[in-house]
Amino acid sequence: MDQEQIERLESSFNLLAPRAQELADRFYAKLFTEHRELRSMFPREMSQQKQKLVASLVLVVKNFRTAEKLHQPLVEMGQRHVGYGTEPEHYPVVRDTLVAVMGEMAGEAWNEQLDSDWKSAVDFVASVMLEGAKQLATADG
Ligand code: HEM
Repeated sequence: MDQEQIERLESSFNLLAPRAQELADRFYAKLFTEHRELRSMFPREMSQQKQKLVASLVLVVKNFRTAEKLHQPLVEMGQRHVGYGTEPEHYPVVRDTLVAVMGEMAGEAWNEQLDSDWKSAVDFVASVMLEGAKQLATADG
């Protein structure tokens, strides 16, 4: 992750941050419409879940400059996701849904560069989470 990419992530996120609730609403609406099979993994009442998504996004973007601080919390988050029934193939689905919604909301401020910056940022997060999931599988024997 180079400096310029981090700056693009931060400024595009700042653009959408005042609309964080709308981002969360649209993300889950799209996810559950296009991937109905994932709905049952989540609680019926989604208001708390929505805040968590936004809170974790803010955390990730704020800490990209000091990525090592993210490592352990993300490993542990990946381990908790095993308990939620999350499989490795779900990560690209969540990534693509999230990035598509960000692009729709940002409108003309969005471009191919931001699309690829955000996809690689989410891939980075997912890779650390999956590392945690894998450690758990190994520890289980
Ligand atoms: C980009 C990667 C992801 C991030 C940053 C993320 C973030 C979070 C956060 C912060 C929570 C709150 C609970 C906790 O911290 O353990 C959570 C819960 C959850 N996530 Fe994720 N998540 C990601 C990927 C996924 C994927 C791919 C799935 C599978 C479809 C998923 C399904 C869930 C479920 C089912 C819950 C628990 C809901 C509940 O019972 O309250 N997440 N996620």
